[in-house]
Amino acid sequence: MDPDFDRRIERRESDSYKWDDNERLFGRVDLLPFWVADMDFATPAPVLQAISERCDHPILGYGKRSQEYFSAIQGWLKTRHGWDVPKEWLMFSPPSSIVGIGGIISVLTEPGASIAAPTPTYGPLLTLVEQNGRKLIRNPLKETNGRYELDIDDLAQKIVADTQMVILCSPHNPVGRVFSREELAALAELAEEHDLIVVSDEVHCDLILPGHRHIPYGSIGGERSVTVISPNKTFNTAGIPQSTLIIPSEEIRARYQVFLNTMQLNHDSTFGAAGMIAGYRHCAPWLDELNVYLAANHELAENFFLERMPAIKKIHAEATYLGWLDFRQLGLSQDEIMHRLVEIGGVGLYGGTEFGAEGAGFFRMNLACPRELLELGLLGIEKAVEKS
Ligand SMILES: Cc1ncc(COP(=O)(O)O)c(C=O)c1O
Repeated sequence: MDPDFDRRIERRESDSYKWDDNERLFGRVDLLPFWVADMDFATPAPVLQAISERCDHPILGYGKRSQEYFSAIQGWLKTRHGWDVPKEWLMFSPPSSIVGIGGIISVLTEPGASIAAPTPTYGPLLTLVEQNGRKLIRNPLKETNGRYELDIDDLAQKIVADTQMVILCSPHNPVGRVFSREELAALAELAEEHDLIVVSDEVHCDLILPGHRHIPYGSIGGERSVTVISPNKTFNTAGIPQSTLIIPSEEIRARYQVFLNTMQLNHDSTFGAAGMIAGYRHCAPWLDELNVYLAANHELAENFFLERMPAIKKIHAEATYLGWLDFRQLGLSQDEIMHRLVEIGGVGLYGGTEFGAEGAGFFRMNLACPRELLELGLLGIEKAVEKS
């Protein structure tokens, strides 16, 4: 059966973080949520079926990673991203990507060391650096006429003696860039020169809009890289998380293993594993259709702002379902815009500073929803800013 991305599925009262936590976060229950990164689309049928079939066996005890588990990941990386990855490179981070990234920071850098991150970026990547007692070096993405690029010259100037790591988000949340081979190669060269490890958070790597191609950082950065992937965004399975760290260096793998042992992080969720295998095995056609739908949602939003609210600019996206909206021309504070969005527009978006100070003046809108809902959200934004 063809996926029906236009289908509205009621998520209220399903213990959904996105739909059932709005009062706590925005002070309003009846808000339309466009904030946290999960999708209002059904998880693909083969994934749901695999999870339900797992329940045919009535015992849900500790699981072990099967050969099928490893080969599903290897097959996906090869066919989807053109990357041949030996089984030994695959390490895991139960229960989720962000835990593994925290672990990598703790074992590969020293307390007090500095870690650079191209900013703005997914907020928890910044928080992890500071909460682990490391210093953050901000390396703002270079913005030219609404297009962002890695600023390797700025990074080169900011690296100091105790800089040990760079944390990249690729493709980029929130600005939606698919970084080019040249940008990634320049980063890899700098990392080599200064003895840095690059951790590349690639959990959005399957959400690539038609016409673009994702390049796994590890396929360029080799032994100095840790690449993080996950099916959670791809198949909308964040509630049963699964995540893989791809680590080419034997020495880094051994150090990361110490973190896993210390925290006793050994087992994946049985449902997460079953869902991931089914997704990677059977859902490439579904994903292709999803990306076409997402591209159309991006285009709709981009045109909506161009035609009806030119003071707000939507940054052109190459990947992800996240719209990065530039409100700077309105000359209002984030608090004022947020207040209007919530109270007048009835919509919940993330304020740009969730992604670091460089996000000031921006909001992030999650566009992974049926088009009818997206249109309601855009009308809400229009109503909220109409009189400014
Ligand atoms: C770039 C990025 N990394 C990591 C995560 C979180 O992934 P997980 O739920 O696997 O920890 C997200 C979720 O939005 C994300 O956007």
